[in-house]
Amino acid sequence: MINQAKWIRADIACPLFEKKISIKNKIKSAVLQITAKGIYECLINGVRVGDFVLAPGWTDYNDHIQYQEYDVTSLMENNSVIEVKCGAGWAATIMGLDEEFSIWTDHPSCIFSLDIEYENGEKESFLSDSGVLVYTSDVVETDIYNGETIDRTIERVCCGNACEEEITATLVPQIGELIKEQEHIFPASVFKTPKGEWVVDFGQNMTGYVKVRVKGKRGDRIRISHGEVLDSDGNFYNENMRAAKCEALYIMGGEYEEFKPTFTFYGFRYIRLDEFPGIPRIENFEAIEVHSDMKRTGSFVCGHEGLNRLYSNIIWGQKDNFLDIPTDCPQRDERLGWTGDAQIFMRTAAINYDVEKFFDKWLYDMRVEQRPNGAIPTVVPDCIHRLTHLYAAGWGDSSTVCPWEVYKAYGNERILKDNFECMRGWVEYMHNFGDEEYLWLGDGHYGDWCALDNKDGDKRGTTDDDLIASCFFAYSTSLLVKAGDILGKDMTEYKAMYKKIRSAIWDYFMEDGVPKCKTQTACSLLINFDLCQDKQKTAELLLKLIRDNGNHLTTGFVGTPHLLHALSKTGNTKTAYDLLLREQYPSWLYSVNHGATTIWEHWDGIKEDGSMWDAEMNSFNHYAYGAVFDWIFGVCAGINVKDDSAGYKGITIEPNPDERLGFADTSIDTRQGKVRVLWRYMEEFIRYEIEIPNGTTADLTLPDLKKYQLTGGKYIFYTGKV
Ligand code: BGC
Repeated sequence: MINQAKWIRADIACPLFEKKISIKNKIKSAVLQITAKGIYECLINGVRVGDFVLAPGWTDYNDHIQYQEYDVTSLMENNSVIEVKCGAGWAATIMGLDEEFSIWTDHPSCIFSLDIEYENGEKESFLSDSGVLVYTSDVVETDIYNGETIDRTIERVCCGNACEEEITATLVPQIGELIKEQEHIFPASVFKTPKGEWVVDFGQNMTGYVKVRVKGKRGDRIRISHGEVLDSDGNFYNENMRAAKCEALYIMGGEYEEFKPTFTFYGFRYIRLDEFPGIPRIENFEAIEVHSDMKRTGSFVCGHEGLNRLYSNIIWGQKDNFLDIPTDCPQRDERLGWTGDAQIFMRTAAINYDVEKFFDKWLYDMRVEQRPNGAIPTVVPDCIHRLTHLYAAGWGDSSTVCPWEVYKAYGNERILKDNFECMRGWVEYMHNFGDEEYLWLGDGHYGDWCALDNKDGDKRGTTDDDLIASCFFAYSTSLLVKAGDILGKDMTEYKAMYKKIRSAIWDYFMEDGVPKCKTQTACSLLINFDLCQDKQKTAELLLKLIRDNGNHLTTGFVGTPHLLHALSKTGNTKTAYDLLLREQYPSWLYSVNHGATTIWEHWDGIKEDGSMWDAEMNSFNHYAYGAVFDWIFGVCAGINVKDDSAGYKGITIEPNPDERLGFADTSIDTRQGKVRVLWRYMEEFIRYEIEIPNGTTADLTLPDLKKYQLTGGKYIFYTGKV
């Protein structure tokens, strides 16, 4: 009955709202519905309600706010106290790049109802309203980017009654996964840097916070800075956090205290102890990783140590950035739902974890943000572009790619149904933009973001923006057509549109059957989106561009996810492996060899000479390049959902072994059950172990081109070496 309660607020930064209630009879059930514009933590009779941290997550708070429902029957006593502590969270932090657009409110508010049913059948509701009392809390400052200050010397003082507030956002029941505390990570070491600063190393870059247990005296201060890497001298480094202070400040109230923040999170591997009573020891610290509570589904291990580490970095990159919404990074003053990053990583995400619920929620957020002309902002929730007009190719296409990949992974048509109009809107935006009906020309874009084929330090690659945009126009239209066909809609118009876009791309961007713009990204997109005029020649051009660049990739965010697929689709799987296994810069293994424990934003976040890529944009926890895992899964293991199937009911298995890996063991827990492909080089043979769940049919093609039709069961095959 939360809708009957009143929103309440107070005039202090982190208020503690308190409601005392007396229970008349024996309780049959007690249900709490609660949410905040900000972040809340609720205690009933001193016990924390639920394990959702950073609740209620991040939505466009002007439009909708998710509320949570908890069964609190077991917490009730005759005289019960409900305490709700509120902090700024995403709603009252200046999120993003520009103050003007980025704030939903300047104070946190909350709303709750406690609905009790007595054993005698009577019902009673206790609602938030101006009768709730406001107390000071020990959290004196909190902000997503800057961190949190907790002062235990502060006395709990009553500041009077809460003010009721008019908030028009729709209250919707929880859609997404809950954010929960996950791994607890104890330090690898506590040491003094050459500068003489105390630093704690948790050995793993992560998202979360540190729990500190400390002995001292009242008034002692613990001040902590967070950083992802050390500099080349082994000193603490956090310039790449930009304006985000990422600090935790704790003031002790007694002789032994435990602290952890309630309303914020950090991206870090290292913490620097700027103030600390006494000599810090390992036992004083425990990092707690937080992310949306998704079920892990994928697994991969092979005989190449570097690749195993890369895989681990990809998994961490996903966990660390799936915090209610898919973010670009968890540390600097962004942590935003960049749509492009999610689109790039989408297929990999749905292999590693069950992300159906997670994307259900974020795609709801996206539909809310879609402009009347169909445009999709580049971040969702949209906290930076409300007043600007940047609708970029490869970013807005998350509106077609994400629902499509979620459908393919889990086989639930509802996601297509829910998002079909949004997909259509985005295609229509591209269709209606400018004078050319079947090309997307002249709009503003991020291009092949972070590509290397531009002069050093320039973030945008040289691939023609219009070509990228028109390729995505074609690709999104093709996904719209597929979705429409599945939903039984008449797609005649969009089928014709797709053909026209394809031939317009040939007329406008091609010369002698290959793109005029000769970049690895241009060739990869054309091949992987099936838009080539002359596929053979485009494949040869791609190989030449790789050779001419010293046998390495030059692609950025847009091209990289397609590069290895384009190579293997055109018979060049060996070259794809060469790129994957390359150790020197630029390559996936370069960061691994430089100690990365997550995926870096730049191929050379830390350069060969130990210096950093510009501090202005150098995250060490950006998952985008981790999208290479969908090639490992789909080509190296060779597991793919058939074109005419979804949810792993009908699959193809075409393993592509490479001796440099020795073996590769890949599996996924699908909604059907486990699919597993293991190949292993033996003395004279390659041995394959394949597992198919009941209810799934698999078309297996081995490298010797022998074909088999498999149903549920476990199988062993051999071929000669390849
Ligand atoms: C983000 C990216 C994002 C990009 C847009 C960056 O600042 O970190 O990951 O996609 O802006 O180009």
